[in-house]
Amino acid sequence: MANALATIILLLTLLCRSATGARTKASALGSQQPPSSLDALADDNGICQSMVDPQNYDCEEHTVTTQDGYILSLLKITIANTCGTKYSRGHTSLSPDDPAYWDWTWDNLVSSDLPAVFNYVYDQTAQKLHYVGHSQGTLMALAAFSREQFLVMLRAAVLLSPIAYIGQMTSPIAKSAVENFLAEALYQLGVYEFDPRGDAVVKLLQDICQKTGVDCTYLLTSFTGPNCCLNSTIVNVFLDHEPQPTSTKNLIHLAQMVRDGKISMYDYGNEGQNIEHYGQATPPLYNMSSIPNNLPFFLSYGGADALSDMRDVKLLLDSLKDHDGDKLVTQYRVDYAHADFVMGENAREVVCDPQMTFLRLQCVHTFKKARSPRILSVETCGCNGVKRNCVTLMRV
Ligand SMILES: *[C@@H]1O[C@H](CO)[C@@H](O)[C@H](O)[C@H]1NC(C)=O
Ligand SMILES: *[C@@H]1O[C@H](CO)[C@@H](O)[C@H](O)[C@H]1NC(C)=O
Repeated sequence: MANALATIILLLTLLCRSATGARTKASALGSQQPPSSLDALADDNGICQSMVDPQNYDCEEHTVTTQDGYILSLLKITIANTCGTKYSRGHTSLSPDDPAYWDWTWDNLVSSDLPAVFNYVYDQTAQKLHYVGHSQGTLMALAAFSREQFLVMLRAAVLLSPIAYIGQMTSPIAKSAVENFLAEALYQLGVYEFDPRGDAVVKLLQDICQKTGVDCTYLLTSFTGPNCCLNSTIVNVFLDHEPQPTSTKNLIHLAQMVRDGKISMYDYGNEGQNIEHYGQATPPLYNMSSIPNNLPFFLSYGGADALSDMRDVKLLLDSLKDHDGDKLVTQYRVDYAHADFVMGENAREVVCDPQMTFLRLQCVHTFKKARSPRILSVETCGCNGVKRNCVTLMRV
């Protein structure tokens, strides 16, 4: 089971651009440069030691290898780190210096990273998973569930600040990057790793702000929307670990979705290549209406979110309109923007507590006829048949 941190990861690629800028603007860039090789990774404390242990949570680090060779770090309790982040830069044969290492988009996170993580956790625990995703972490999950992946291993999913349809996002900086084909330009220049702390990207952000008149004084805000509830201490801790690199190709994919308002696979930009990859001239769609109607969802979205715009969330909810009523819980928080869901000072009460209540409700109560003649039945509650305090023994 994951807590809010978990999700940070699955998503961070989205937040990263802004956070970087915020830092640059404040001339505070740089307590940490991202490691450029595996050697550097070894020097870097894991997330357990640097972020989770100090909060007195138990934390174990695991590694998982995807079918296409990326070596991901996983934290028990909390966090899965998609490939390319500093915690997951390993690969069985490629180095981050190879262009091929960055030849992926979130489609590959769906087809490779997510299965590796699900299978590993499921094997280790022999329990169905609760999935908690934020931002890109919701996109990966929705896409996977729409293809009926993982359903046998899944108990319920929590989606915070959902990114699915993104055609109506209002984030000035993201829109400007999309309209000006900036990811495409970087790709043409041979910049395959989008490192938000790297010189190329920092310079690019400064250019966008200057040329487009986007107010970049508060880059985090111009990217995510006005977060109501961020405490500067938390933001600084966050900035020590984030933003993380992603592939430029992933950003091109997201930009395509902003432009065409659809949730489809990466568009290679010409029919021939699409046919080669997909056997059809246009990239296949992920059909949100194909998500099984009985999958328990908790979906939380914010009125001030510039990336997960309410109109886009409404499109998503429209495509889930046949979902079983008692399996879809939505939460709307008028003052929340994109980062509040993971960093808000009150996120525990606002988001985590209701989410935990929801997840507990998905746990089954089973009644079994007991063997002992002195006991009529045993009620087991708690998830996955784990007996908790609520086991009741009823005597005849
Ligand atoms: C932010 O939150 C931390 C932890 O809850 C607290 O110790 C700190 O005083 C807060 N800082 C500000 C500026 O509110
Ligand atoms: C999406 O799936 C739904 C339900 O299975 C189906 O009715 C609809 O035609 C599909 N839409 C597309 C565009 O394939």
